[in-house]
Amino acid sequence: MTDDELLERARSVREKAYCPYSNFRVGAAILDENGDVHVGCNVENAAYPQGSCAEVGAIAAMLAAGGKRIVTIAIAGGDEGQTRACTPCGGCRQHIHEFADDDTRIIVKDDDGKWHTYTIADLLPSSFHL
Ligand code: THU
Repeated sequence: MTDDELLERARSVREKAYCPYSNFRVGAAILDENGDVHVGCNVENAAYPQGSCAEVGAIAAMLAAGGKRIVTIAIAGGDEGQTRACTPCGGCRQHIHEFADDDTRIIVKDDDGKWHTYTIADLLPSSFHL
């Protein structure tokens, strides 16, 4: 599974996002330690705080399928009809942290086709853990 293939899975599931309130579609695709891929999209709700992010959906799918660790997570998002380098929100960084290792790769691609690759320590320094 190449980075481009994983991003394509994120872009594809992004089309299924339920986001009538923000019109901001997000898709996430996780490659787990078994080489399996799990996807998720954002799911909004009329009671706004009940909405969930794409990354959380992909993590739930990974766990449900028996995966335990995130090797790579690709995220694609943007306003309807647009894409941009969509880095995970603060809450999602904490969710990813739970299942990430030091070498887990968080990858996004901007409109110019430039890849941006992060570790969870890049995105969530001095993180909370028990
Ligand atoms: N969203 C995600 O799915 N992931 C993120 O990392 C950032 C935000 C969703 C939540 C909401 O449905 C929409 O994008 C706008 O914030």
